[in-house]
Amino acid sequence: MSGSTSTTGTPTRTRSTQHHIMAASTAGLSLSLSKRHPCWWQYSPTWATASSPSLATSATSFATGKLKDAISPERRRNKRYTGRVVQDVINLGSYNYLGFAENTGPCADSAAEVTMKYGVGIASTRQEIGNLDRHEEMEKLVAKFLGVESAMAFGMGFATNSMNIPALAGKGCLILSDELNHASLVLGARLSGSTIRVFKHNNMQSLEKLLKEAIVHGQPRTHRPWKKILIVVEGIYSMEGSIVRLPEVIALKKRYRAYLYLDEAHSIGALGPRGRGVVDYFGLDPCDVDVMMGTFTKSFGAAGGYIAGKRELIEYLRSHSHSAVYATSMSPPVVEQIITSMKCIMGEDGTTIGCDRVRQLAENTVYFRKRLREMGFIIYGNNDSPVVPMMLYMPAKIGAFGREMLKRNIGVVVVGFPATPIIESRARFCISAAHTNDMLDRALSVISEVGDLLQLKYSRHRIQPSLARPVDDNVYEDIDD
Ligand SMILES: Cc1ncc(COP(=O)(O)O)c(C=O)c1O
Repeated sequence: MSGSTSTTGTPTRTRSTQHHIMAASTAGLSLSLSKRHPCWWQYSPTWATASSPSLATSATSFATGKLKDAISPERRRNKRYTGRVVQDVINLGSYNYLGFAENTGPCADSAAEVTMKYGVGIASTRQEIGNLDRHEEMEKLVAKFLGVESAMAFGMGFATNSMNIPALAGKGCLILSDELNHASLVLGARLSGSTIRVFKHNNMQSLEKLLKEAIVHGQPRTHRPWKKILIVVEGIYSMEGSIVRLPEVIALKKRYRAYLYLDEAHSIGALGPRGRGVVDYFGLDPCDVDVMMGTFTKSFGAAGGYIAGKRELIEYLRSHSHSAVYATSMSPPVVEQIITSMKCIMGEDGTTIGCDRVRQLAENTVYFRKRLREMGFIIYGNNDSPVVPMMLYMPAKIGAFGREMLKRNIGVVVVGFPATPIIESRARFCISAAHTNDMLDRALSVISEVGDLLQLKYSRHRIQPSLARPVDDNVYEDIDD
């Protein structure tokens, strides 16, 4: 029922209950999914341990590290570790887009320094006695980074969505939600008590149809106008690698006088010439987005989330959002990691490191996607998206691909039903600025080898290989004939 309309808020990719899929009951990087899992259309990869500082061998940014091997016995949710630790694995699975999830460098140093000064725990909420000068500095910085009036931070990205949407919409309101929105957005919409209608993924005709119907018919039975219509979308969709058609969404929301809630969990830091997300990518005015949401867990290598926008909005949330009023405030070293990485991206640290990382990520992304296409793989998503889904199609190839890659020291995330339609199993690569040319080339050559082994080069439109990287004039001199 993908793409259908639901007035109950049921996500459209509903499948039969308690299905488990996994990377086929064998050793290797595995995946176990269950509809009961709150994140049921995402995955829970074994790979998670690779980003644990205690396991990482690389002193850099977890672009490489050790990986604990695990098996997921068929039809069981819990994975079992085999005790085998694979050394020097190239990490193609983490959301470490700008490489700030690192255990050395200015972010790690300042987080350590702040821990010595403030400790780790706050043991109070922001509204009671848990409000530090560092929290206020971080929020001002987030607002400046995004180019909006005000911002507020929360300790958890998931709760930023699930606890704030109910503060913004309620009974008599209509939420128009992309069919592939993240579980935290779906949960927030359901908890709000609003009516929810789901439009086809990134499909503007489908969205406009729902907007028109909402204006013409109003609320069911009474036909009173909706109190509020809130369109909820993401910047980059983490399973498809697609970028939201933001200019068109903004045009529609203006035409039908709706509000727009934009979740930039994957796009903030990772898109746009200045790393300011999807608004920056399209060169739009941030004021056209009513509620800017994002997380610090990906590009900033930290934890938590933010809501940003007009001052009135933020003041309202400070007193009405459950996660603002009842949750313990963010830990100081986490706040410091956010401040330091964000200042770096903005160039406020006096270096070009952040800027260089944003550019490097864009280059790595375009290069990696182009090479995969040249090899004959089918990949999804936008050319500029660092989330790169590569189609495996057959469920039986999920486990095989993960295992064969890990045998060759490449850690990948593989995804299948019910996270994807049953015949659209895929590997989901996440590109990072911390990947060097050498790492990407090694990974690509392994992907090609495993692709031949498992017959994954499905594309009939193979692009002719061109020069892999721009010619360096110092090496290749012009030769006159
Ligand atoms: C689109 C989106 N929103 C929200 C979240 C939740 O963020 P966090 O993992 O920081 O809690 C995620 C997590 O991956 C996400 O992909």
